[in-house]
Amino acid sequence: MKTVQPYKRIVVLTGAGISAESGIATFRDKDGLWAKYDISEVATPEAFARNPRKVLDFYNMRRRDVLGALPNAAHAALARLERTAGLDVLIVTQNVDPLHERAGTQKLIHMHGRLLSAWCTACDDKQAWDQDISLETTCRSCSAIGHMRPDIVWFGEMPYQMDTIDDALAEADLFVSIGTSGNVYPAAGFVQTARRFGAHTVELNLEPSEGTSLFHQRRHGKASEIVPAFVAELTSGEK
Ligand code: APR
Repeated sequence: MKTVQPYKRIVVLTGAGISAESGIATFRDKDGLWAKYDISEVATPEAFARNPRKVLDFYNMRRRDVLGALPNAAHAALARLERTAGLDVLIVTQNVDPLHERAGTQKLIHMHGRLLSAWCTACDDKQAWDQDISLETTCRSCSAIGHMRPDIVWFGEMPYQMDTIDDALAEADLFVSIGTSGNVYPAAGFVQTARRFGAHTVELNLEPSEGTSLFHQRRHGKASEIVPAFVAELTSGEK
């Protein structure tokens, strides 16, 4: 069979489902984080202003959970895809865990921030961080005390690098959404943007997402199984 790579510029959006098999909790599954915590109490700027200790403790727990976490076969498959000659691949993740980096992915945007980064609200510096943050924590850049916050995009805040993401969606000929429920914008709208600019769109998820009907193609199953299979098809060029 003639091997042809139909796609050259690929944008991949990932969500919590790609990290589920690495032991990291998702948000909206029945045992997810939002079944145990109230978003308005731990994941908004207002919550942080009202009760900073509670918010810091929530992210300290989540940061500790990712310190030893290992990428799974889905993260590894995406790193392989990026290394495939002739392909321009951008991974845009909603996840704040470090598993794409740990799998070797280079071109990566954490649109909702990162657990392993801290942000000083006194000097605005963002710095690599793997310890707990408390109200007594000192900024390594300006030495201010008690001004560190998680480098996380909370509900109501603007996701990071949206211009770069929009430019990539306008240029993509393939958009793949992996492990996301399609509940949270702007990420949930990326499929429509990609389609409007002519990309082929594929959903790879455990079950149909909120936006499943918006995709040209959908495959359902565990990310650690369906993502490597999909990447193998893309890189072999076999139809
Ligand atoms: N393989 C593939 N998909 C999976 C797996 C798996 N092993 N396990 C769960 N999923 C799917 C679920 O079916 C669900 O559709 O992953 C999706 C996870 O959805 P959410 O928990 O809503 O996570 P996500 O879509 O990433 O949430 C988006 O919401 O709370 C905010 O900022 C937070 O980035 C997050 C955003």
